[in-house]
This record gives sequence, C-alpha cells and structure tokens, in this order.
Amino acid sequence: MTIAPLIKILLFSLLLQQESGSVMSGLVKSESEDFIDWWQHTVFYQIYPRSFKDSNGDGIGDLRGITSQLQYLADTGISATWLSPIFQSPMVDFGYDISDYKAIQPEYGTMQDFEELIDTAYNLGIKVVLDFVPNHSSDKHEWFLKSAAKEPGYEDFYVWHDGLLQDNGTRSPPNNWQSVFYGSAWEWHEGRQQYYLHQFTKEQPDLNFRNPKVVQAMDNVLLFWLNKGVAGFRIDAVNHLFEDDTLQDEPLSAKTQDPLSYDYTRHIYTKDLPEVLQMVQHWRKLLDDFSAKHPKGPTRIMMTEAYAGLTQLADYYEDVSGTKGSHLPFNFHFITDVKGDSDARDYVYNVEKWLIYMPRGHAANWVMGNHDNPRVASRFGPASVDAMNMLLLTLPGVAVTYNGEELGMQDYREISWEDTVDPPAKNVGEELYKEVSRDPERTPFQWNNKKNAGFSDSSKTWLPVHPNYLELNLEAQKAANKSHYKVYTDLIELRKSAIMRLGRFDIEPLSRWVFAFKREYPNFESIITIINVSDEEQLVDLSEFLSQPKKLVVEICGVDSNYKYGDIILGDGGGQLNLAPRGGIVLSERSGRIMSERRRTLVKQLVKSGNVVLVALLVYNLWRHKWTKVSFNQQRF
Ligand code: NOJ
Repeated sequence: MTIAPLIKILLFSLLLQQESGSVMSGLVKSESEDFIDWWQHTVFYQIYPRSFKDSNGDGIGDLRGITSQLQYLADTGISATWLSPIFQSPMVDFGYDISDYKAIQPEYGTMQDFEELIDTAYNLGIKVVLDFVPNHSSDKHEWFLKSAAKEPGYEDFYVWHDGLLQDNGTRSPPNNWQSVFYGSAWEWHEGRQQYYLHQFTKEQPDLNFRNPKVVQAMDNVLLFWLNKGVAGFRIDAVNHLFEDDTLQDEPLSAKTQDPLSYDYTRHIYTKDLPEVLQMVQHWRKLLDDFSAKHPKGPTRIMMTEAYAGLTQLADYYEDVSGTKGSHLPFNFHFITDVKGDSDARDYVYNVEKWLIYMPRGHAANWVMGNHDNPRVASRFGPASVDAMNMLLLTLPGVAVTYNGEELGMQDYREISWEDTVDPPAKNVGEELYKEVSRDPERTPFQWNNKKNAGFSDSSKTWLPVHPNYLELNLEAQKAANKSHYKVYTDLIELRKSAIMRLGRFDIEPLSRWVFAFKREYPNFESIITIINVSDEEQLVDLSEFLSQPKKLVVEICGVDSNYKYGDIILGDGGGQLNLAPRGGIVLSERSGRIMSERRRTLVKQLVKSGNVVLVALLVYNLWRHKWTKVSFNQQRF
C-alpha cells in the first residue's frame, strides 16, 4: 500500500472520531413521509438576464449566456431560477414594458434559444420560472395601439378617461394619482384625445383587468409559456392591477411636500383593491388545472410581487374562506423592514410576524434581495454578507437569492449621470438620481477578473461593471480557501437535510445585537444559527438559549470568523462564543452519534469510490461506534 491511501485512512479515522457522542438515536422518517413539494423549500435564484452573461459580445446578457451558466447554478446547488422578463420589449423599463408577451426580446435571443435553455435546465434538474407582467404592457404593444385607435374589441383594453375640463378650456388629469416612478399617473394621448393611466412610466400603460377580454388574453399568455415547459411565474406589481373606478383623489400622506412624488398620497384607490385577490385566485386555479392535466411535470407555481401589508399578503396565500392564491407571496421584510441600524429585536420581530400571520400549511418565504433594491453588502455593509446568507438559508421555507448575492456583490452607486438608464432615476434628474437609481444593483455579474469581469467581450457593456471585480469575482472566490461563495454553497448543502426542510423553528434575541434560532427534528443534530447585527464584536452567552448544555460544533462560519469548521464551541458546561462584527455562525448541537450532513456526504463518496480498504475501515468504525443510521433524505425533483 502506498502512502496516499494510508494518509486518507488516517484522516478519515479522525473524521469518524469527531462524530462520536454519547446518546443513541433512532431512525429518521422515510422519504415519503417527509415529502414536501419542490417549491416549498427550494432556493429561487433570480437571474437578471441583461446582466448575467453575454454570449454574443453585444454588451447585453442573453439567453444563451444564461444557458451556458446553468451548470454553475447546478454546481452551486440551485434547483430553481426565476428570470426577470425576457419578452419582446422597447426596454424603457428593461423588459417590464412588454410589446409582445409571446415573443423573445431579439437582443436576448430566439424562441429556439429559450427552448434550449428550458431543456438544459430540465436536464440539470433546474426549474425555470418566468416573470409575468400583467399590470401594464408597453405602449408599443399592438393591444395599446389598437386601443388608442378605438379598434372594435380593444376600446377598453386600457384605462382611459377624458380628464377634467377647466374653465379656460384646457384639460387636466382626472385626479391626483401619481406614478410610482414620479409625476402624474395620467398621460394625454393625442390620437385618442383622452388620458390613459400608467402606474409606472408613461410607456407602460395600465391594462384594464375589469375587461374580461384582457383577463382571457393574459390567461392565454400564461398557458403559452406553461406549454413551453416553465414551472411557473413571478407575477409583477400584482397589487396594482385594479383601481377604484370612481377615480377619486387619494388622500395626502404628509410624507413629502412634492406633489409629483409617489409618496405624496396614500394609495387607497390604486393599490391592494379586493379584486386583486380574486385575480390571483383565478391564476392559481389556472396553474392548478394545468398541473392536474400535466401530472408528469412539477406543480406549477406562482410567486407574487406586492409590497403590501402583512394581512393582505397572508390572504394571498389563502383567504378567510380557505381559497388558495399565491404559492409564495414575496416576503420583502428583510428589504423593507430591517436596515443597517436595526437591532436583534427587529430581526426576530420580522421573522416571527411573518410566521404568525402566514396561514398554516403554507411555505414561508424570505427574499434577501432583488433588482429593485440595493444589494445586501450595500444595505447592511460588506461584513454582513455571510451572516445574511446564513439567515436566509437556514430559516424554514423558501429562500430567494438575487444573482451575485452569493458572492457579496456590491452596488455601484458611482455610475455617472450619462451612463444612467433606470427610468425613475432619469425622471428625478441629475441632482437626485443617485438616491433612487436601481442601476447600481443591476451591474454585470462578476465572473472573473478578465475583461468586463468575464460578463462580455464587448468594448462597452449596457451598464458599467463594478470596478471592484478585479478582487470580487466568482473565480477568485472559488479558488480562495474561504469566500462568501463557499459559505453560500455550504449553506445550500446543509439545506438539503431533512432538518432544514422539516425541522421545528425557534428564534430569540440573545441581546440587543445578537439573535439566535434553532432548527430541531427528531434524530437529527439541532442546527443553531447565531447572528450579530452590530459593528462590534459580540461575546455571546448561549446558556439560556440551550435547553440543556450540549456540545456545539461549528458547521459553517463566515469569512471573518475566528472559528473554523469542526471547532467545538462549548464544553458540556455551556459557555460563550465570540462573534465577529456583523458575523454569523451555524452550529450543530451534538447530542448523539449522528453524522453531520457533510460527513455523510464524505461517507457516501467513500462508498462510491469502491476502495475496499477504506470501506472496510468504515464498516469497522460503524460497528465500533454503533452509529445511528441517518438517511440522507435529500429531495431531488
Ligand atoms: C416591479 C419590477 O420588479 C420593477 O423592476 C419594475 O420596474 C416594476 N415592477 C414595473 O413593472
């Protein structure tokens, strides 16, 4: 026998020794008893197509670019992705202004490219969810052109109004409603001699969902893409779908003096109207019917985008009569309700409130970022990246990651006025654009330290690449001993265990700045996540949080941590732990001879390797330690 296998045996024996504990446990439940559907615990990885990967050197990300990187998603452990809009669009709002709901935007590729994307994703076990934008189309959509021309059947496809006739004979908009993107929500149309409503840019006229023909047209759109093999939809701006038809002025909010600002009024007539829920329930039925008719495919799902109140969002899941709506009404509380200066109580409160309001039997969801909001590293500071990913990925339910957050990419706030393309930023002007622009969080994905961060061969990219790409990029993070990406993939690996899918959940603030939560599941080591949200190092006393003093072992720690994987934090008598500023740690609470997920993977690999000597050693050790059998119980769908 040469020296290498001997070293392997030695290392492996050491690994096994570390596992030994004192309490015996039984078997875990079988796979079928533990079954939860694919979307109830997955990580949805949001791809912003324009910035992900450019395959043809025009400086704009595209479908072939995405397809070429699906293996990256699979390697990262991602099995579901949602794509921001890829449909034909004049790109005023970068795809959220659709001029043909059933066509692919030419600069992103062709329908064939899309079909190849779906096939590749399918072969890699990745579900694809598309962005559905029902509230508004582009003003270049043929429906709008026909409606503006009052073509029979299209007259009421959009929301039209004569406006108010002033004494001097001029006309003004029907009311004080403002666009989300600044300025009046009404635009005069010369051709039709009427105002039309647009809750976003004037190039995004609002469709009229009180017209059954519009509902039917949109159902056809959904069915078209379902038949192409998508696993569901993220539904854009869903709570804007209906407006009060009395068109009354909205009351003033007293939040700002600027009458053109969206914050000037309270949106009681333009948002969250009861009909929204009915439409969501209608789409749920369409999806459920489709899933029932095509049982070989996965459950087709919807995720809804609404920055709305908690009770409304809870009703999206299921209303008081028990009618189901959205599978996943996005929970944006980590974006909207906790900030850089929030303390531990704020986090605990936000987590608890979602779980309290969410109707029973549904999957919780946590969104840590998206293309509309500053990135984690910019909201909470770069030191928070690992801790926020630990929070996101060890909570119960579904996690939503925006592309680049696995690397801790940062906003590029210094984009010049000349390079600025985001409509709300352009609307507020050169003085204020930096405060509202969404371009900073949309810069190209940083693959490596080569030209344009490996995003594109073009001499110019549609948005500039963040200059920090030379150090902050995927390739560097893969090569480093410790990196945000490695922390992220370790978390994803940990998530695959039954305890993360099914484990009970308890959360508590341990001090003003530190909170902890625990996942427990019979016959599994409990998993404890501890997060420090302050800029100071924190000494944490866990004695009260733990039901009884146990041995705690480091499973995952951040790049700035003083600890490393496998460190034993507390002796049997309880003790203290040092958390780096903005740091987090994931521990397992050893109470028996149960192998950690990662060690189980090593054992599996060993068995697969077919090395007789090593397998014999393994069997000997299993016999010697009388290990508890723990099923892998991983859900692959
Ligand atoms: C929400 C989308 O996420 C955002 O990017 C877009 O500008 C608006 N809806 C309008 O569609």
